[in-house]
Amino acid sequence: MIRAAELQRARFAALDPLLPPPSALPPGDPVEAAGAAGTIAHVRFPAGSWQRLWSPAQLQILSAVLGRNAGAGMNALLSAWRERITLAGAETDSSCTVTWPSRDVVVARALLDHGLTPQLALAVRAPAPGRAHAVPGVTVRESRRGDLEEIVELRYEELRYTSYVGHGVLQPGARALLAEEVSRGLQFGGRVWIAEEEGVTVGMVTGGKRSPAPGDALAGRVRPGEWGYLGTLAVTAAARGRGIGRALTAVAHDELFSPSLTGTFVSYNPANPLSPVFWHRQGYRPLWTTWAVSPATALR
Ligand SMILES: CC(C)(COP(=O)(O)OP(=O)(O)OC[C@H]1O[C@@H](n2cnc3c(N)ncnc32)[C@H](O)[C@@H]1OP(=O)(O)O)[C@@H](O)C(=O)NCCC(=O)NCCS
Repeated sequence: MIRAAELQRARFAALDPLLPPPSALPPGDPVEAAGAAGTIAHVRFPAGSWQRLWSPAQLQILSAVLGRNAGAGMNALLSAWRERITLAGAETDSSCTVTWPSRDVVVARALLDHGLTPQLALAVRAPAPGRAHAVPGVTVRESRRGDLEEIVELRYEELRYTSYVGHGVLQPGARALLAEEVSRGLQFGGRVWIAEEEGVTVGMVTGGKRSPAPGDALAGRVRPGEWGYLGTLAVTAAARGRGIGRALTAVAHDELFSPSLTGTFVSYNPANPLSPVFWHRQGYRPLWTTWAVSPATALR
């Protein structure tokens, strides 16, 4: 196992210089096949929770150390997982996810062959201030307390859009959950910038700073150090394609920049026809891809 972990570490380093050293396998049900080892963690989100806006009720998260033949290793682990769900029965509102380096196309083949599809990309950008972009008649400013309603409407619009092309789920009570999340984000140091035109809010972007810490969701995903992040970006449908997204992003990048920053990151749905191309043009490129399949689909 130690040998396999070393091989994986060397393989990741050769695949992509921006990957951090891999973390140890997280806790979960152990799974082994063809020299590969993994764990499957089970997570359940209660009805009405914030997470259910972005996830099915149940997740099975596979983490893996694949050894020398990475494609065959992932293939064998996914076959072993499929046997387990055949025995256990497929939950309807659930999905199995694997988060893997985006550039590992050998493993991508095995994931596709088992019916998994790319659901989310974590993309990174080198640290740099924003390149100012002015849109005539549009002002970008940091949000104030009185902007909450407009911010929630734009976040709802982004959730609605994501529900067509990605993992967003339009649950009843979504607006109230988004309002709570916006308030909580602002309370804990998150920032929101909004774009206004003739007094009307036409766009917004959320952002802040984070550093990976042992055991948190960023650990093993990005290199140690302080990162800027951009969260939700949305522009009203009628105002898109005029540079407002670019203007918002430029201000956020500029205000998050400091000489000690390691970089910035965003997440987007690869199937979204608007956001991947937008982010790539702002200097981002994918580092990790989260792949997903519902057990019912995997068993077909
Ligand atoms: C993604 C999104 C925020 C981008 O915002 P936007 O304001 O439309 O983005 P921009 O106008 O800055 O850039 C989009 C395109 O318009 C072009 N554009 C910029 N200024 C322009 C102008 N003056 N005239 C015409 N087009 C212009 C940009 O160049 C870009 O096209 P290109 O990539 O071919 O060059 C917006 O499409 C959106 O809200 N989508 C739905 C929600 C969503 O997907 N959010 C992202 C979640 S990660």
